[in-house]
Amino acid sequence: MSVKIAPSILAADFGNLERDIKLINDSNADWLHLDIMDGIFVPNISFGMPIVETISKLSTKQLDVHLMIIDPDRYIETFSKLGSKILTVHYEACSHLHRSIQKIKDLGMKAGVALNPHSNINLLIDIIEDIDLVCLMSVNPGFGGQTFIENTYKKISQLREIIENKNISCLIEIDGGVNDINANKLISYGANVLVAGNYIFKSENPKINIDKLKEF
Ligand code: DX5
Ligand code: ZN
Repeated sequence: MSVKIAPSILAADFGNLERDIKLINDSNADWLHLDIMDGIFVPNISFGMPIVETISKLSTKQLDVHLMIIDPDRYIETFSKLGSKILTVHYEACSHLHRSIQKIKDLGMKAGVALNPHSNINLLIDIIEDIDLVCLMSVNPGFGGQTFIENTYKKISQLREIIENKNISCLIEIDGGVNDINANKLISYGANVLVAGNYIFKSENPKINIDKLKEF
């Protein structure tokens, strides 16, 4: 299976949002990654429902929504109605993760769980069979354009081993600081989905940079 690329809209030009979404529609990207931040779970606020609704209307790519918010259960149904196909909650933000995952899946979405850089892979050992995607944060969540944390490679290997041993089809997504320097190594360690914000949207030619990531 070739790697999936999910451009992160956080790095787009919000004054030209329609142009940037259409650019992704015309590209070889697989998904569109939406970062929702509440200013509490992470020290930043991104964008809310009206923007997600607009993106959903304009995008032809599957929406991969990453909730960086406390108590995400409050909004699972809302994001389903807004067109989210993959909905990711943070392990660190859920008191009853099993219930949150079931709620996401009951609404017909794929369920993702994100792990902060400091959180150990083994925290997922008793829930991994229920998860469609694990999002390994390779920066501390909250901002685009940060430097990739090298310890992520080790976490991919550990997670890949668990997935292989259990013979399950859970995807590994890497989020933060992804570029053409680390993509090859991330894929060789077992990553299935690469999220990239700055590397794509802040480049001269976003479509070519998407193709560069897909080529590895
Ligand atoms: C970080 C976000 C990322 C971010 C990635 O909190 O979850 O999705 O947009 O942006 P880059 O690729 O610029 O690090
Ligand atoms: Zn994200």
